[in-house]
Amino acid sequence: MSGLFITLEGPEGAGKSTNREYLAECLRRQGLDVLMTREPGGTPLAERIRELLLAPSAEPMASDTELLLVFAARAQHLAQVIRPALERGCVVLCDRFTDATYAYQGGGRGLSTSRIAVLEAFVQGDLRPDLTLIFDLPVEVGLARAAARGRLDRFEQEGQAFFQAVRQAYLQRAAAEPQRYRIIDAGQSLAQVQLSLDVLLPQLLELARG
Ligand code: TMP
Repeated sequence: MSGLFITLEGPEGAGKSTNREYLAECLRRQGLDVLMTREPGGTPLAERIRELLLAPSAEPMASDTELLLVFAARAQHLAQVIRPALERGCVVLCDRFTDATYAYQGGGRGLSTSRIAVLEAFVQGDLRPDLTLIFDLPVEVGLARAAARGRLDRFEQEGQAFFQAVRQAYLQRAAAEPQRYRIIDAGQSLAQVQLSLDVLLPQLLELARG
């Protein structure tokens, strides 16, 4: 595949969407063909699975159900959007991907990493992001920002311990494979975060131009 696959990760309230737009604009200005998308979701069917995942419900969702829904949405997204875009040579900027599964279902829910890895191989084959930006933020700050946005979804209703485990899982993955991850301090002002992205831009351009 000739494109470049970049994923953005981090807790709720880390400013991923705003920064994804900023990064897309920077890359487009350099003449690159950029596709922005998100998970869970990114196609009409996968967005319907997203609704199932995020809607608070009286019936508790089993963790295995959650894991399988996340990968069902991903299979659809890969088939319909991500793989075709990479084959066309696009830079794909995806708000969350399988690192979120390791962080939320692995870290947060406590599901085994090896079980997630089996599904990852089944659904993705060899496909992994070329680069993953982790927008890191203290848990209290992220939760306060999410709460300020209004009604909380099923994940946002989780407590501090869940989000501490999510954050640790992200940081552990980044430490284990430093060449694939860049950690961005999302607690800084937006201008400072965007400055960190500007610093990264030459590396991204080099990767995109192969
Ligand atoms: P967001 O994209 O609006 O932040 O919300 C998506 C939610 O879905 C977020 O709480 C993280 C969660 N999620 C998982 O639990 N596992 C996954 O694999 C993905 C992609 C998202």
